[in-house]
Amino acid sequence: MNAPVGQGISGRPTHVTAERFFGQSIIVTGAAQGIGLAVAHRIAYEDGNLVLVDRSELVHEVAEQLRGVGKGTVDSVTADLETYEGAQQSIEFARTKFKNLDIVINNVGGTIWAKPFEEYTEEEITKEIQRSLFPTLWMCRATLPCLIKNGGGTIVNVSSIATGGVNRVPYAAAKGGVNGIVSALAHEAAHHNVRVVATAPGGTLAPERKVKRGPLRHPGGTGRTDLFPRLGGSLLHHRQRAARGWRRPGLGHPRLDSVRTFTGHPSGMTSGGATSRARI
Ligand SMILES: NC(=O)c1ccc[n+]([C@@H]2O[C@H](COP(=O)([O-])OP(=O)(O)OC[C@H]3O[C@@H](n4cnc5c(N)ncnc54)[C@H](O)[C@@H]3O)[C@@H](O)[C@H]2O)c1
Repeated sequence: MNAPVGQGISGRPTHVTAERFFGQSIIVTGAAQGIGLAVAHRIAYEDGNLVLVDRSELVHEVAEQLRGVGKGTVDSVTADLETYEGAQQSIEFARTKFKNLDIVINNVGGTIWAKPFEEYTEEEITKEIQRSLFPTLWMCRATLPCLIKNGGGTIVNVSSIATGGVNRVPYAAAKGGVNGIVSALAHEAAHHNVRVVATAPGGTLAPERKVKRGPLRHPGGTGRTDLFPRLGGSLLHHRQRAARGWRRPGLGHPRLDSVRTFTGHPSGMTSGGATSRARI
């Protein structure tokens, strides 16, 4: 990224490995903003063919911005990945754009609320699991037959260090589920030459979200800002941890680098259930 982390993404990234993704076809989910957008940005400059998936229409603007910056194609589709139907639609769309599918980056997720577990309602717990577990689960299921048919590929699931965090038990459960998908599916899919890996970022600075994490998600709407309603206590806790060496929030670059490291390996190298903690 050219711009300082947290200030947005524009122009050619400072570090580009030319043609790193040349000839490879890649799906990035949750690409309308944040980490997904940053990953798509880098891959576009490194010449990959992209299909960007998001529930927000903003994803089409992102695709428009990235089109032509590298040697690859950039297309976009809206889908709700909390449903299997949405995952299937995304794959069907990608199949109309790609000859083969090589890499799938399952990035949709994110804490909606942060508070002591005893204060979560049943509905909130359900929404957290739907947001941060099901999009990855459905996408892995929908993607796998394609990758197997192609003779291999790579699935990168975006997890989180929050499995060891506080005030986000449902999110931690969802991301623990993501880790479980990785370790189990990596073993199961290895003999198909399908690599399944994860990256587990810490707090990552990004521009203010256009798509809110809360139930009202539309840009321009009265999006709820339920995230960190008890910000003071929660943030203080994290700062105390940071002071003890847990070091968050961190910079965005290492997260991208870990995604790139996984996706950049030849897909023939099946590494098993490696879950990486990004350097922070
Ligand atoms: N931001 C962080 O500090 C951080 C830290 C650790 C892990 N992560 C993980 O990284 C990933 C990305 O985080 P982020 O902060 O960039 O997220 P974000 O909330 O900024 O963006 C998420 C994107 O996913 C899309 N999305 C949400 N639900 C969707 C659905 N059902 N179907 C399709 N698209 C949907 C949103 O529209 C949005 O564009 C998440 O999995 C998150 O858990 C983030």
